Amino acid sequence: MKILILGSGGREHAFCWKLSQSKSRPKLYIAPGNAGTAQFGENIAIDINDFEAIKNVCLSQDIEMVVVGPEEPLVNGIYDFFKNNKSIKDIIITGPSGQGAQLEGSKAFAKSFMQKHQIPTAKYGEFNSGNFKEGLEYIQNHPLPVVLKADGLAAGKGVLICNNHAEALAEFDQMIQQSKFGDAGKKVVVEEFLDGIEMSVFVLTDGKNYVLLPEAKDYKKINEGDKGLNTGGMGAISPVPFATHHFMQKVVERIIEPTIKGLQEDKIDYKGFIFFGLIKVDEDPMVIEYNCRMGDPETEVVLLRLQNDLVELFIAMGQEKLDQPKIIFNKNNAATIVAVSGGYPEKYATGLPIDFNYLQNPEAIKHLDEDGGIMVFHAGTKPGNNEVVTNGGRVLAVSSLSDTLADAIELSKTILEQIHFKGMYFRKDIGYEFVD
Ligand code: AMP
Ligand code: GLY
Repeated sequence: MKILILGSGGREHAFCWKLSQSKSRPKLYIAPGNAGTAQFGENIAIDINDFEAIKNVCLSQDIEMVVVGPEEPLVNGIYDFFKNNKSIKDIIITGPSGQGAQLEGSKAFAKSFMQKHQIPTAKYGEFNSGNFKEGLEYIQNHPLPVVLKADGLAAGKGVLICNNHAEALAEFDQMIQQSKFGDAGKKVVVEEFLDGIEMSVFVLTDGKNYVLLPEAKDYKKINEGDKGLNTGGMGAISPVPFATHHFMQKVVERIIEPTIKGLQEDKIDYKGFIFFGLIKVDEDPMVIEYNCRMGDPETEVVLLRLQNDLVELFIAMGQEKLDQPKIIFNKNNAATIVAVSGGYPEKYATGLPIDFNYLQNPEAIKHLDEDGGIMVFHAGTKPGNNEVVTNGGRVLAVSSLSDTLADAIELSKTILEQIHFKGMYFRKDIGYEFVD
């Protein structure tokens, strides 16, 4: 089996690691990949949105499966491109059709889908230049805080939580009249603020059946104590202590099952991951957002706990047989801590050499097995002349598995203390609410 993985982050390195463990012993190709993925296969320097180039790789290398990491190619219709091209239509591709990817690509689409299928989410209004005045009135009369969301993909920056009406009205004007987020913000969802604690739930679906993967919680803010600017994610843990069996039953009954049923009713072709961004309000789960892919850095903990053969799961997805596999979770606790480059999520340098000092001391790293251990996933790296250099804001995700959450976090920190690049920073309080 030859598999092409699209993307270049920690999530894709984690996919490579997990796929490489399959008993089918797949040969992996990664486009464009990073210095970490190169340890598991061949990196190919093509753009993840250049579908013709991807098709050429699939044909020249006899690829049988394509694993899509980030959302952009999915929202741009890579699934439909494959299905509409005779020579590549039988390749298994993990991801929904362009229409299914609208669950992430358009907040307005996602909200109207949830409303139609009675999936619990914040109350909202949808506005554009056509009903701009109504929007101003809606915001003026809205309780505070009020949440403004650019409809389209805005690189994680399109959500604004406003604490006064003047600010909200000004931002709304900026989005619709001044194109603050370009076309992504021409339509705006205005919604009520939900107060609670967030977590992420993941399923893999074949459009009819689904399997539930281990849940996770990520830490989005740059500074300790959840302060400062939003990032792509500074760390994650799994399991999530407050996601009790009772709570997860509510998630399944009120959110996951109506979503899968809704996709079928609306005839939306969806074979891939659904990432439910949830918030627990009192004791009830509500949906903050859908994503049409796995999370990053959540994947770097979820895959540590998933004990199934991932290639087999993707094949079952392609054959619409996801009613058959029984998912097995490792009961241990996983944590990942992300090392970022100084200045991230704003301006930061790249090309900085990374010292992996723990490699000098092989005893320092506890290799991962069922009982536990450590994986150093690369997020933004590339091979330099004689060393690995940084190539992004998020540089590494150090993931550990252990009996307790506190131990897993300590293992990751111990390794991070033996890694160095200029300006390296990581949060030392990942999982802080749940450990003493
Ligand atoms: P999104 O891009 O929709 O995930 O939003 C980014 C972040 O904004 C979420 O992870 C939440 O922390 C926050 N957020 C979004 N919508 C709401 C809401 N209705 N109430 C409270 N916080 C929200
Ligand atoms: N860590 C959040 C995301 O992948 O969207």
